[in-house]
Amino acid sequence: MGTEYLADHHAGRRIVLLALDDQSILAYGTLLWESCYEPFRVAKIPEINNLVVAEQARRHGVATAMIGEFERRAPVAGRNTICLGVGPYPGYGPVQRLYVKLGYQPDANGITYANQPVPPGRTVPRRSPTLAHASPRANAPGCLL
Ligand SMILES: CC(C)(COP(=O)(O)OP(=O)(O)OC[C@H]1O[C@@H](n2cnc3c(N)ncnc32)[C@H](O)[C@@H]1OP(=O)(O)O)[C@@H](O)C(=O)NCCC(=O)NCCS
Repeated sequence: MGTEYLADHHAGRRIVLLALDDQSILAYGTLLWESCYEPFRVAKIPEINNLVVAEQARRHGVATAMIGEFERRAPVAGRNTICLGVGPYPGYGPVQRLYVKLGYQPDANGITYANQPVPPGRTVPRRSPTLAHASPRANAPGCLL
């Protein structure tokens, strides 16, 4: 994964950020310029993709700072909105709370699987469904908020 991220970073496909202390890496996160989620890809809204903070460093504002850095960098590239997707499971509870706290809003498409809305009663593999969110600075053309 590290090699792929490095290659993407150098090719300009994504920004990779690391949070460091004196000794070690505390967190990593990436911003993909071309979202995996079709509505955001079409609207040219970049996607926060894989943001992980080491357990011992959590609840100290590291993720908030990294998201803030993505939010600062995206407009420099002409992108005023950024997005992300979270899983509708308890394991994503912390990040669901984090994005709500930062003002991110659901894109109103509900839960999706393979980028398509999941109708009530439909069975999909447990790991894959996503609930997409976009940033509050929603002035990009085609934004779905
Ligand atoms: C989600 C994650 C990135 C948050 O990182 P963090 O550096 O701890 O986040 P912050 O310190 O910036 O948290 C800010 C807010 O997020 C929410 N939050 C963070 N952890 C939480 C938890 N365990 N329970 C409930 N809310 C939580 C809170 O609203 C918190 O504000 P508060 O501390 O004032 O209550 C981290 O828990 C993590 O790496 N989780 C595993 C990987 C993951 O789920 N990544 C996201 C999807 S790729």
